[in-house]
Amino acid sequence: MNVKLINQPLEMIAADLTLEFVTSDQLASHPHNALLTQAGFKGEHEQLCALHEHRLLVCGIDKERSDEGYRSAMGSAVKAAMNYSYASLKLAQYTAKHFAALIEGAVLGSYKFDAYKSEPKPSALIDVIFSTENSDKSVNDADTLESILTQTLIIAKATNFVRDIVNQTPYDMTPQGMAVTAEALADKNGLECTILDVNGLEDEKMFAMLSVGRASTNPPRLIHLAYKPANPKKVITLVGKGLTYDSGGLSLKAATSMVTMKMDKAGGCAVMGIIKAVSELGLDIEVHAFVGAVENMIGGNAYKPDDVLRAKNGKTIEVRNTDAEGRLVLADVLGYAQAKVKADYLFDYATLTGACMVALGPYTTGVMGHNETLKQEWLNAAERSGEYCGILPFNRHLKKLIKSDLADVCNVSSKPYGGAITAALFLDHFIDENMKEKWVHFDIAGSAYTESAWDVHTYGGTGAGVRMTLNWLMEHCK
Ligand code: BES
Ligand code: ZN
Ligand code: ZN
Repeated sequence: MNVKLINQPLEMIAADLTLEFVTSDQLASHPHNALLTQAGFKGEHEQLCALHEHRLLVCGIDKERSDEGYRSAMGSAVKAAMNYSYASLKLAQYTAKHFAALIEGAVLGSYKFDAYKSEPKPSALIDVIFSTENSDKSVNDADTLESILTQTLIIAKATNFVRDIVNQTPYDMTPQGMAVTAEALADKNGLECTILDVNGLEDEKMFAMLSVGRASTNPPRLIHLAYKPANPKKVITLVGKGLTYDSGGLSLKAATSMVTMKMDKAGGCAVMGIIKAVSELGLDIEVHAFVGAVENMIGGNAYKPDDVLRAKNGKTIEVRNTDAEGRLVLADVLGYAQAKVKADYLFDYATLTGACMVALGPYTTGVMGHNETLKQEWLNAAERSGEYCGILPFNRHLKKLIKSDLADVCNVSSKPYGGAITAALFLDHFIDENMKEKWVHFDIAGSAYTESAWDVHTYGGTGAGVRMTLNWLMEHCK
């Protein structure tokens, strides 16, 4: 499906179907009021009514007319339009300040992943068309609208790219599969790409990551993608948890909790999507994306509760639960990333804890770190982008819960509460002193994957992290 902007008055644009947003207040004065009322249409948010004889699709919208409302309503409307036989849809009058949200709604809301269907149902809808004519006149030159369209499409398509990788099965998307995906992206977008295999990881003394991957027949890979424009304003390091499958290891997950654990690579996929978008937008920011791609399995050579691992930065870790594996992988990848790149900021993305979902619900990313201003900037960026974020606060008492009698730190907390925060405090042991204030950790355990549709998301990966990060980068690295 293509989203197009045509520099012509609305009525001059030919399309098979017109989409119109209507509030409950506008219903009485609508030219098709009688028909709509008869069909039970009340103008409730996202309520749809197709008047095929008028080639009109009417969609209810909240009276507040927020970006969030338009984004999700546009998603629902386009998804419905895809079930008809029309090839093109144009939007009736719209306000330019909601243009980006409408585009996001169309691209993210129409996403379908049918790679595993033997007979995928094709959609007839090819074009979603906007006229440059818009009702609020806040933006009236076609060039500005065109650049909003280009930028929004790049970010929305990068989000769908992330969804596509997350949705692939652990059989198809192994650590090596992640490496191949990264190499293909690097080739296409002119990025530098370095892959470390087991030998490379051994040379780098990344024994925490190696231990997690040891029992798998799909050996681990460390991926480093770099985008280096000539005169960057800032240098940013991104680190992603890329567990292509998390069985829990010897601390085996319960059968029902194991289902969906192909999504444990979503942080790694997110950083690949972010660097894809940054390079396509041509931003003046040097970005490094590191992915720890590993499969956490069981076997005679599996790492065990009771093992002590030495991470890249020299710290020793007492393993008490092999299902708290993401933090072990990140410990080494964070160590490697900081040794390789002197960055202005360090952000990590990980489906790290079920506790984050308990704390914030299934839609919200947990934001943790030492820098209060920076965390607040991220909350604002997330809100602008349409993602949900919430801060989970550190304190010195929680820090004591991961003390170990045997090693430098323990991979699980001694108490069952606050697990998202104690996981982040574990990561803090692997953040260099000079990076403490420049680091933010994002727990995307809840936000990265869904089994029921919400907002602009359908079943599967959501692409969490991409939109909010592009928003933060474009605001703070100018
Ligand atoms: N990948 C999981 C976290 C997770 C759970 C992500 C559910 C998405 C949905 C992580 O590796 C894990 O298993 N964490 C454990 C930590 C515990 C053993 C301290 C958890 O959350 O139960
Ligand atoms: Zn786990
Ligand atoms: Zn995991």
